[in-house]
Formats: sequence, C-alpha cells, structure tokens
Amino acid sequence: MFNSDVYVNRRRSLLEKMAAGSSRGIAVFLGNVDAPANYRGNDYKFRQDSNFLYFWGVDEPWFAAVLDLDTAQECLYGNDVDIDDIIWMGPQPSVASKGEAVGCARTAPLAEFDKAVAEAVAAGRPVHFLPPARYYNQMKLAELTGLSNQAVRKVGPVAAGGASEELVKAVVALRLIKEQCEIEELDKAAEIGYWMHTEARRGCKPGVLEQEIVGRMEGVTYSKGWGPSFTTILSQNGETLHNHSHHQIITPGRLLVVDAGAESNTHYASDFTRTYPCSGKFTTKQREIYDIVEQANELAFSLTRPGTSYWDVHCATVRYMLEQLKALDFVRGDVDEMVACGISGLFMPHGLGHNMGMDVHDMEDLGENYVGYGDERQRSPLLGMGNLRMARDLKPGHVISDEPGIYFIPALIEQWKREGTDKGFVNYEKLAGYYDFGGIRLEDDVLVTADGARRLGPYRLPIKSSDIESVMAEE
Ligand code: GLY
Repeated sequence: MFNSDVYVNRRRSLLEKMAAGSSRGIAVFLGNVDAPANYRGNDYKFRQDSNFLYFWGVDEPWFAAVLDLDTAQECLYGNDVDIDDIIWMGPQPSVASKGEAVGCARTAPLAEFDKAVAEAVAAGRPVHFLPPARYYNQMKLAELTGLSNQAVRKVGPVAAGGASEELVKAVVALRLIKEQCEIEELDKAAEIGYWMHTEARRGCKPGVLEQEIVGRMEGVTYSKGWGPSFTTILSQNGETLHNHSHHQIITPGRLLVVDAGAESNTHYASDFTRTYPCSGKFTTKQREIYDIVEQANELAFSLTRPGTSYWDVHCATVRYMLEQLKALDFVRGDVDEMVACGISGLFMPHGLGHNMGMDVHDMEDLGENYVGYGDERQRSPLLGMGNLRMARDLKPGHVISDEPGIYFIPALIEQWKREGTDKGFVNYEKLAGYYDFGGIRLEDDVLVTADGARRLGPYRLPIKSSDIESVMAEE
C-alpha cells in the first residue's frame, strides 16, 4: 500500500475530472469478494479489483466505497471482524483504521453501502460505476441498481443506464499515466520477471518436461512477489499465441516460447517473452526468423517516445518485418501495399503491445478502445492491425509492452490460401516448409519518459541470438 496521500490525491483528481465533465450523482466502487475454487471455504487466492485498489488501497475482500460527486463526501464500507473471524484469521485492524490508512475519514458497515446506493437510486441520482470484471460484482450491481446483468457490463453515458462512460474515461485518463510510486513497483515486478525468465532459460534442456519449467519459474514469482501476473504461456508450439498446455518434453531442434510475468506484492505486473532454441543453438532457418523479430523489438523501442503514437510504431515495425520476410521470399510485391492490406496479420496476428500497470493488459475490462484508442483513432478491422491494444499518442508515464512476433500457423495459412486473403502477396511454396516451425515472440516492458523511453527493470534478459546461445552454453 502507498502513503495515504497517494489515494487522497487520486480520488481528488477523479472528482475534478468528473466535475469537469459536469457529472453529478455518486460513483460507487466494489471491491472483490472471496471466490470459491471448488467449494465455498476453499477459495482462489484473493486478488483485489484493480480499480478498487487504485482509489481505495484496501487489499481485502468484502469492501466497497462511495464517492459523492456533488458533495465530495466519501465513505469506505466494510465489516469489522467478530470472534469467529478472530478464531480463524486472528485479530484484524478495524475498518476505521483501514480507512485512515488511505485518507478516508468516514467508514461504515457493508450493509450501509447497499442502503447508500438504494437511496441514490430512489432519489433518481445518477449512479456511476465501472463495468465489473467478476460475476459476483456484476450480479451485485444489477441487484443494487435494478439494471439487468447484461446492462451493468455495457459502457455508455450514465443516463442510458449501465456502466458509466464518464467514469470509465476519467479512470482511464488517471491510470494510464503512471505515478513515480507506481513506476517503482513496475520496476520491482520487472526484476522478479527477470529472475523468473532466467529460471526458465536455465531449465530449457532436452528431456525436461515443460510443466517442470513452469513450476520452477512460477516458484520464483511466488517467493518474491504476489505470483504470476497472468497464466504462464510456455510451449514448443509457440505458433499458438496463448498456449497453456505444458505437457511436452523439451526436444532438440524445436523452439520454446516463454511468455510470463510477475505481479509484485502491491499488484503491479511485468510481462516478458523470450524464445529459446531447445538444443541451445538456433538452426539457420530459426536464426533467420529470430533475428527479424529481435530487430523488430529493437526498432519498436527506438521509435517509442512522446510525440509519436503506438499505432505508428506498430505500423513501422510490421513494415520492417515484411521487408525482411520479402528478402527471404515469404512475400512478394510492394511492402507499403502489404502493410495497407494487413498482410502482416498472417505472420503476426496480434498487436505490437498493450498498456500495462496493475493489470497485465491494463484496464482491459473497462473496454479496450477506451483504454488503447480513446478518441484519437479508430480500430482497424484487419487481423493483426486490429488486434493492437494500444494505439494512442504516446505520453510520458505510459507503460507498454513491446512484443513483436512471427508465427507460422498452418490453419491460418491454409485459410488465407483458400480464401485469397493474401491478395497475391504470399509465397505459399516457401511457407510449405515452415508448417512445423512454431513461432517466435520477444517482449520487453517499456516506460515512455519525457524524452524517449526506457525498458523497465534493472536488467534486461539476453535477447540477441548470439547472446542467447552463449548464455545457454554457459548454463
Ligand atoms: N503476454 C501475454 C499477453 O500479452 O497477452
């Protein structure tokens, strides 16, 4: 938890933003509750709602809060423990002291929260809330507001009934620009991520089960932070972008994609990807593709600075990759036309990167376009181009991933061939020799600074093909 001033200032800034947009009524915030894994009483490890954490700091289940936009009054709701709780959980600080720790002088039992919302609804006051990530909160909001379960997830003007677009925009504007205290936490998460990936690379040896590597690398993040920031992606079938199957044995000649990150104890995320040759050395075929992706990662980083947009960085990066793929005869024709037609989507069906913060895809639940596009530009309908989650003009304090990749996805190649999606640019004869190649992705986490950018964390994981080979040989 940060100093109480951090939370006081965030809520004040939120009030100012809402006032600037002439929003009236109340803003309600629901913390997360315990979520049963297989029976009530055996819960998943608790993870607080990120928006609740951002404004109210309390990292425990069964809390809620109200910010009155008309009077600036605020109240944190939660229940003090009773003797049963003390028997099982030990003595706990009072709700009042938790409020004090985040600069909120008024606290009340949780039942009062329901009443406060009911009163606002009955009085016809606008009730602003964010689209809930969890189903329990979705049902709770529906119950409190009288809206349907679907309506509370739908973002629009508050007057339309549903999650509040006004509140979403205000929260996005605040959370997108990281404060110094957040950057320090992101650096910590990046350092844990560095050690996770170091463990993974050391474990990448012929004969080892992928699951073993996952277990060892996740152990690093549990021992140094909160745990993984998302479900670990680790597979020799790296052409499947989010591959969570870890049942294969590391086999010489294959590539291992490791995409994983850590969450710090204060819930800030890192997200790194490296791709390793399972035998410790790249084949010529692998190195050709690897070096394109590595140079694309470097190019994207060199272009990342205030005054440009991540859309432009994405376009420049895929343009570079297509030029290199053309030099290897995977594609033929004019590269600018290929960029415009979205030919890069065949090789990289995802975007160059996403926002990061307390969520590894920061605030994605508030709506990807609100977070990554705003009013600045429209999303492309093309595969790959349209999958870019962050396209905004870059500003100091933005934190984004830089994660180009090249994949050979047989089903996608076959579909493009069948449907003529490639518009004659793709050399399928060349691609026929790559159906068992897999994929390569390389990812760093980047902070946009006043005059450029820096990679997060104190150390950078080896990335050049020659460095990967040397370090794997030493290990
Ligand atoms: N690194 C996982 C993702 O960005 O989806």
